[in-house]
Amino acid sequence: MNTTHSLRVALGARSYPIDIGAGLLDDAPRWLPLLRGRHVLVVSDANVAPHYLARVQAALTRHTHRALVLPAGEQEKTLHRFGEVLAALAHLGASRDATLIALGGGVIGDLSGFAAACWMRGIAFVQMPTTLLAMVDSSVGGKTAVDLASGKNLVGAFHQPVGVLADTNTLVTLPVRELRAGLAEVVKYGALGDAAFFDWLDAHCDALLACDNTTISEAIARSCAHKAAIVARDETEQGERALLNLGHTFGHAIEAEQGYGGLLHGEAVAVGMVLAARCSAALGLAAAGDGERLAALLTRFGLPTAIPPGLAAERLLARMRLDKKAVSGSIRLVLWHGIGQAFIAPDVAEHALLAVLRDT
Ligand code: NAD
Ligand code: GLY
Repeated sequence: MNTTHSLRVALGARSYPIDIGAGLLDDAPRWLPLLRGRHVLVVSDANVAPHYLARVQAALTRHTHRALVLPAGEQEKTLHRFGEVLAALAHLGASRDATLIALGGGVIGDLSGFAAACWMRGIAFVQMPTTLLAMVDSSVGGKTAVDLASGKNLVGAFHQPVGVLADTNTLVTLPVRELRAGLAEVVKYGALGDAAFFDWLDAHCDALLACDNTTISEAIARSCAHKAAIVARDETEQGERALLNLGHTFGHAIEAEQGYGGLLHGEAVAVGMVLAARCSAALGLAAAGDGERLAALLTRFGLPTAIPPGLAAERLLARMRLDKKAVSGSIRLVLWHGIGQAFIAPDVAEHALLAVLRDT
């Protein structure tokens, strides 16, 4: 029997539901009540739309609606495409009470969420994530953005969706490499704050890789519960929310050094988490064995755990200094005391980092 998991992000008047389960796109009575007003714009990408767009549009019998299908990929998360979403809203005649539906992965969610934040100073938007990464991370928490030539996510806004609907059946068409990259972000929740969840992932590795619906839905729900709790306590990342960046400062440096054409984001985060664990051990903050357990689980998920060949440690360190999480010459990082015990280290010595970067 398929179970639907329902949880909420508790943000007072801006609280919203997250529903996770098989076949939810076709369960229109569940998500139609989220829509505000008469006008609906559905934004999707060229890989997702052929599979799922018609099913969403078929439910919009009482709305004036249009669809905008953008080319797929991170390189499309631009101000230019953002302008296209705004133009589509204008063409639709969208008023202040229109709703935007983001049907796709994190690129579509971030880009169209930012357009929803800006159109008439903010309209409702519903996240319908179709990648595992978007289901467990980007669709929840209200971070929206586009990239500039000078860096990722440099222009954006906090704008919470009015609901998140994760139909796990959509993962059937997701390329397996993208599924594995999403699993890195799932492991992140265990690694940063929930050792029991880490053990559960270890025990259910094969079912997760096979995309068994019951198991993957539970993994998504447990991940979202972690994210929802952190976002409810620290919506705008004044403190605790930064823990969600475990592995990301290392990972962003790798992605940037590879010109965003190498490892996928989740893959780079996998390597970054291993680097954070090794750095913690090198500084005497954690047992090395915990890092080895993390690397072993990521390897079982088919994820990389070493820096790709050809990337110089000094250049990665320079990228890490530039990362937005670096403050006045010192490097601020998420480290851990072991599995499930991440913390924010405000000032990590660069020579210790360099030694780990040279060695991994
Ligand atoms: P993505 O949106 O590029 O999707 C990955 C690929 O899978 C794309 O080619 C897409 O077309 C395809 N795809 C998506 N769903 C599919 C499906 N069901 N079937 C077949 N193909 C499908 O990438 P992503 O990994 O989902 O998201 C990465 C983006 O998310 C990055 O831009 C990152 O910055 C952002 N992000 C944002 C947050 C946040 O809090 N807002 C958190 C993490 C990541
Ligand atoms: N993905 C990090 C955050 O949402 O804060």
